[in-house]
Order: sequence, then C-alpha cells, then structure tokens
Amino acid sequence: MTDFFDPRFPDSASLRAQAQKSMPKFAFEYLEGGCIDEIGLHRNTNELQQVRLRSELLSPSVDVDTSVDLFGHRYAAPFGIAPVGLQGLMWPNAPEILAKAAAKMNIPYVLSTVSSSSLERIAEVSEGQAWYQLYNPTDANTREDLLDRLKASGYQNIMVTVDVPTFGYRVNDIKNGLSMPPKMSLTNIIQMLTKPSWLLATALAGKPEMETLKPYMPPNMPADQLASFMNNTVMGPVDFDALKVLRDKWDGNFIIKGIVNPSDVQKAVDMGADGVVLSNHGARQLDCGESSIAGLQALNNQYKDQIKLLFDSGVRSGTDVAAAMASGADFTFLGRTFVYAAAALGKNGGTHAINMLLRQYIQVMSQLKCAHSSQLPQFLVK
Ligand SMILES: Cc1cc2nc3c(=O)[nH]c(=O)nc-3n(C[C@H](O)[C@H](O)[C@H](O)COP(=O)(O)O)c2cc1C
Repeated sequence: MTDFFDPRFPDSASLRAQAQKSMPKFAFEYLEGGCIDEIGLHRNTNELQQVRLRSELLSPSVDVDTSVDLFGHRYAAPFGIAPVGLQGLMWPNAPEILAKAAAKMNIPYVLSTVSSSSLERIAEVSEGQAWYQLYNPTDANTREDLLDRLKASGYQNIMVTVDVPTFGYRVNDIKNGLSMPPKMSLTNIIQMLTKPSWLLATALAGKPEMETLKPYMPPNMPADQLASFMNNTVMGPVDFDALKVLRDKWDGNFIIKGIVNPSDVQKAVDMGADGVVLSNHGARQLDCGESSIAGLQALNNQYKDQIKLLFDSGVRSGTDVAAAMASGADFTFLGRTFVYAAAALGKNGGTHAINMLLRQYIQVMSQLKCAHSSQLPQFLVK
C-alpha cells in the first residue's frame, strides 16, 4: 500500500512525540542527540527556517511535478532517507521497513555501514534501489571485500562519509552508557521493560548487531574492543588521496557526505566525485560548526553544473525541502524524521513519512505556483 497516511501524525513533531513514547529513553536520546551543548542542532533548523520563498499568485495555476532526475534515475520526490546507524536499536527492523517503503515509492534509501541490517539483505528488500553509506575502511582487505560485496549486490551509488574523524561527544549517550565502548546498565534495562511494544518487536527481530560488519569482527568480540575495531578496521582516513583511491576503485556514482566548506566541494570536483552531501551529520559532530544551509548558500550556485549538490541536516518538512532546493540543492535527505516515523508507526512508518512530506511539498509548490523543483531558485527571496 503506497497511499498510507495516518492523520494523527501530520508533521515531524507529532511523529517525534509518538516515537518518544514508544522508544526506550536511551535509544530516543541516541537518535536525538547533537554534540556537547547541542547548539548546532538548533542552528541547523533555525537557519533553514530563515529561508524565504515568494509566491507569484497572479501567474497561471500549475500541475506540480515532484519527480527529480538524479544519477540517471527519475525519483518520485526530491528527498530520500539519510543513513542512520543502529536504526534497529531505535526501532526493530527499521532499515528493512524504510528501505522497502523507499523502493516502493521510488525514493532513495541510504544504508549505513553501521546498520543493523546487512547490505545484502537491504539490496534484496529494496530490489536493488538502495544506496550505501561507507566509512573508508582502514584495512585494505576489508575495503576490497566491502566494495566487492556492494558490486555483487547491485549497488550503484555510494556515499562516503567524511565528517567523523572522531566520535561525537554526546552528553546523553555518555550518561546512558552508549558512548564508546557501549555498556548496558540496569537503568537501560528498566527503560526497555517500560516500552512493551519496542520490547516485543525487538524480541521478534532479535538483538540488533552490525550485520554488514560482522564478517570482519573477531568472533564474540567484547564491547570494550568496539572502538579499536572501528578505528583499526572500519573508519580510516578520508583525506584527498585516500578518497581518490576509493573513487578510482568504484565504477558507480561516488558521493562525498559531510562537507559544508566550498574548498572541500572544489576538492570533490577535482577528484571526480559525482556528488557531495552538504551536511554536518545532523549536528552530531561539531557543535560550533556552520549550519548546512549556510554551507549550501556559500556555494552561491558556483558548482551547479559540475557536481550534484545533495543536502541534509535540519530538514523536517516539505517546506524545508523546498527551502533547500530553492537555495541550490539538487536533492535532499532526512535522517531523524524517518526514524521517528518507523518508531511511531512500525511497518507503515516509512510510507506515512514519504506521503506526509510529499503532501507538504506539493502544498508549498502549488502555493508558490512552481511546477517543478528545478524552478524553485526563482522564488527565493535574496
Ligand atoms: C542517530 C543517528 C545516526 C546516524 N548515523 C549515521 C551513519 O551511520 N552514517 C552517516 O553517514 N550519517 C549518520 N547520521 C547522519 C545522517 O545521515 C544525516 O546526516 C542527519 O541525520 C541529517 O540530519 P537530520 O537528522 O536533522 O535530518 C546519523 C544521524 C543520526 C541522527
């Protein structure tokens, strides 16, 4: 069913409120967290909400076409589902729920390297439509093997994340025992017991583990070795030279995720990347960083025809999607909102969130009298 829409949850805020009721506190706080004082979190949403669009009400009415061409595919909407690690901890089977909904409704779902579903499983449920988010593996054998697995499973698009040179300092995760290495405390167990629907769904789905990475982990690896495993195997250097090696090994579309600086966009162009994601990881890494909309605006349309400019961090609504597209983005992604939706509505969450965002986006476009996303920059108030 692709038209599922639950009127109890017409916006991201109501999905968030329901998600908070459904998820154990430590899992909800892991999803919500920014970095240190969480100032960047508010900067992302506030500055995106400063974007103004001006309608042209006396021009003829339009039929809004929400489709967008990107990397040789025509998507049904100008937004997709950003990679979120450990989605299965926040809501059991969330990667499968969201990947299936995205494939059915023809928008991209990006699978995180540290996901609780394997890349093979997500390729299968998304019928080859999913994208993959990669941390540049430190270990050359792991890198070769992962790239081989991605090719064998039919992935066309990889997003290499470059904004995690260190683990984010997240205050609630530290209090909750979810920093590196993670520790399951009695308090966390009590929090799980007070969320019966989460507990039951988790019991049915099984304990969430990093399924894609399992083959590279020592058997029964203790939790206190997780940080060194991540550093020594999974999250290697992402400077220009390291990324160029990866670029040259990957035949499909190569997208660099997590930059807000025009000079980094130039480097991405120079190495032959097909796209960049203007993103600050949902403000989870650098609390005093620029908002990602400021990063996009700073480009001033300079790279428009050289590389695809994708955008995330702070997008919560169809209005935000339109604001980013008007500011020069070719496509947008949302992270937290889709996890709220899976936690609020289980297997229908992905479809609901896509329909919600589509309805909001079409309303904004119709109100502006803008027929297609590519025309949105004309409506931007400068
Ligand atoms: C809980 C959580 C986990 C995330 N995990 C990853 C990840 O594994 N890889 C990655 O590239 N980005 C990750 N991100 C960042 C998202 O891909 C995306 O950039 C961000 O969520 C966008 O901001 P938004 O949540 O305001 O929409 C994560 C974000 C959140 C909230």
